[in-house]
Amino acid sequence: MLTGKRILLIIGGGIAAYKALETIRRLQDAGAVVVPVLTRAGEEFVTPLSVSALAGQKVYRDLFDLTDEAEMGHIELSRAADLLVVAPATADLMAKMAQGHANDLASTLLLATDTQVLCAPAMNVRMWEHPATQRNLAQLRADGVRFIGPNEGGMACGEFGPGRMAEPLEIVAAVQGALSAGPLAGRHILVTSGPTHEPIDPVRYIANRSSGAQGTAIARALAALGADVSFVTGPADVAPPEGVRIIRVETAQQMLEAVEAALPAEVGVFAAAVADWRVASASDQKIKKTVDGLPHLEFAENPDILATVAQMEGRRPPLVIGFAAETQDVVALATSKRDRKGCDWIVANDVSPATGIMGGSENAVHLITDAGVEDWPRMGKNEVAVQLADRIAAALHAERP
Ligand code: CTP
Repeated sequence: MLTGKRILLIIGGGIAAYKALETIRRLQDAGAVVVPVLTRAGEEFVTPLSVSALAGQKVYRDLFDLTDEAEMGHIELSRAADLLVVAPATADLMAKMAQGHANDLASTLLLATDTQVLCAPAMNVRMWEHPATQRNLAQLRADGVRFIGPNEGGMACGEFGPGRMAEPLEIVAAVQGALSAGPLAGRHILVTSGPTHEPIDPVRYIANRSSGAQGTAIARALAALGADVSFVTGPADVAPPEGVRIIRVETAQQMLEAVEAALPAEVGVFAAAVADWRVASASDQKIKKTVDGLPHLEFAENPDILATVAQMEGRRPPLVIGFAAETQDVVALATSKRDRKGCDWIVANDVSPATGIMGGSENAVHLITDAGVEDWPRMGKNEVAVQLADRIAAALHAERP
């Protein structure tokens, strides 16, 4: 609940501004007081009257509005809030924030504040993927700004991809996460999850039985402790968690690119069941049956995402956690996997079909760290996730209280 919490909601100029109206309502449902700020561009999409009517508050619009300065200066306006939420956070607003501009009310409030900031970006997919926006995103993350979304999907401009603003309830969950005094509040954690699909041709692919359940449960458990989670997921069976930044990929190569783009992070949890091989030259036409015999598929090795990140110089997260899916000699193979890949912890499990673990709801894991091997009893994947999240919180706290 957000009872008694004061949220300063900065509404930027984008088509997603209409969702800011619904967000005001949902934040109020959770008990928050919403103080709205509307940028000039925002006024092109929603009217000051509808914003103030919904919020039940005056809407702040102008830096040089002397009445406001007399009643409440811009410094006070931002500091009186428990959280600043920027929704939609446009490419322009993100750029201003990353550069420290203060040439209108919104950017001035964002620069003058010492309160946490949560951004819900919304923009055209090309603008989101542009190196300039990605640079600004990395800078803002490094400055401690939290992010929710953008989600992937069809956009008002007719394109498809990441850029849609998170849904109002996702924003509310992220606000709750940001304001929870959870032990992982303000920590950026990267989680990979699900299988990867490696194309053979446009209609066929090589996959594995991972449902994404364990990675999803871990991301949810981390978010519940207040972490700012970037969730890079292959095509999983289970729905992704709420309140995390979701980055969907298909192949191992795409997963590596998405992981690199999401860094820096304080922890990397690599729960994805990444395909070790891809078809070397996937056909761009459907492969047809012929009288000449069977098709010959040549394989190429995929990048090892965990090993790549664990051995990165400079950008390696201080805590790197891998998984080991084995069908025999689980602990011995996982222990050598930990050394080979260069990660700090390995969560090892036996995925032989008889265990029912791959694709099932339970897991029996061994946690292998510097200190040795711990055998955890068989339990639900959600419980494994909660315990692992607690261990991560304890490790981070020991290192930087
Ligand atoms: N992993 C990865 N990228 C890959 C393969 C695996 O990031 N291309 C990660 C997984 O997410 C997991 C860990 O490495 O955290 C171990 O995965 P696993 O499939 O058990 O090991 P493999 O690397 O496939 O090794 P092996 O073939 O010896 O089982």
